[in-house]
Amino acid sequence: MTHYTVAALVGLLALLPLAAQAPAELPAVLAPYLQNPTSDGITVRLPARSAEQVRVAWGLEGQPLTELAATAVAIDNTPWTVWRARLSGLKAGAAGRYEVRYRLDGAEAKTPLYHFHTLDPRAGTARFVVVNDLHDREPTLAALVKQVRPEDFDFSVLLGDCIADPKVAGGAAQVFRDIDAYTRLLNASNKPMLLVRGNHETRNTFARQLALLFDLPLLDPTAKWGDDQWQFMLRAGPLWMLVLDTGEDDDLSTPETSYKAPKLWQSVRRREADWLRDTLAAKPWGDAAWRLYASHIPVYGDGHSLTAQQYWAPLLADAGFDLLLAGHTHSWRVTPRGADGQPSATLVVGGGPDVAKATLGLYAVTDRQLSRKLLAADGTVLAAATVAR
Ligand SMILES: [Fe+2]
Repeated sequence: MTHYTVAALVGLLALLPLAAQAPAELPAVLAPYLQNPTSDGITVRLPARSAEQVRVAWGLEGQPLTELAATAVAIDNTPWTVWRARLSGLKAGAAGRYEVRYRLDGAEAKTPLYHFHTLDPRAGTARFVVVNDLHDREPTLAALVKQVRPEDFDFSVLLGDCIADPKVAGGAAQVFRDIDAYTRLLNASNKPMLLVRGNHETRNTFARQLALLFDLPLLDPTAKWGDDQWQFMLRAGPLWMLVLDTGEDDDLSTPETSYKAPKLWQSVRRREADWLRDTLAAKPWGDAAWRLYASHIPVYGDGHSLTAQQYWAPLLADAGFDLLLAGHTHSWRVTPRGADGQPSATLVVGGGPDVAKATLGLYAVTDRQLSRKLLAADGTVLAAATVAR
């Protein structure tokens, strides 16, 4: 680098606002975020650097709060512990309140009061938002969520590459900044925030610890790398959703020695195919009116995962999906049913991470109709449709 370039760089850095050079330190205790909603329970997670005796005080609406001790999940090589408490034994569609109580610097403290709902297969509606490929960009999400009203959604989906190349160095500071920002902007203290892993979540030194921060029905954070299961199903009112983990974006020409470890990810996708075969044989959608499929990398069309398509497409073809969701390509598109060999369902691919290319998907289903809207950060409706039956 020439002396001139170095001088220019130093000059440029001086012009940057202080906040851009050194992000403000996060509070010692972040807001709680809801995970793994089912018809009989929900999980509360609370990241904290120094809290002790963490308890979730909770009760159904109209009933007093009772305390449940949270379990400490220490995040090695970071200052953080992500406390965990599962509220269980609930009825479908139960509504309740909770606050998290703890000791901090020798004094009793607590979070504000939040609300939760369990999922209800009998509910008349399900509404959710999908964002993808944020690549740690809080301002992108901040602009997107301005286009949504709080009553527009019951839960959110981070459809991959939202926590990009997470690294241990620096105490995984960016990971916790992401968690803090996404919890706040997606109101995840009140509405579950579901993580779908993208290829960038599988990379770098913190990737193996991400499973300690999220709760999914089959995810075991002690499982060996490659055996951890990020795929899941969810039933919410008239909606049945299947999420598969496409993993890295290796393809058939990726060298075996690449950091993309194609052999490992091919075996992950094969294992998922076995799970998919067994799972779909039981027709898990039940009487759900609408069937949705989501994965970070599209299984069909441009930028798709070849081995995911090879292993999964024959199985997915028989599942009767009404809509397919994906991200990964950084440019939004909607592909009509039947294109590129995809099953008889429309594929919606969200964009990002630049604010000018980012999208937010807004989905609402009732027994009779499915409506979808893909919004840009400036409020432009990029694509929208309502399907009735
Ligand atoms: Fe990606």
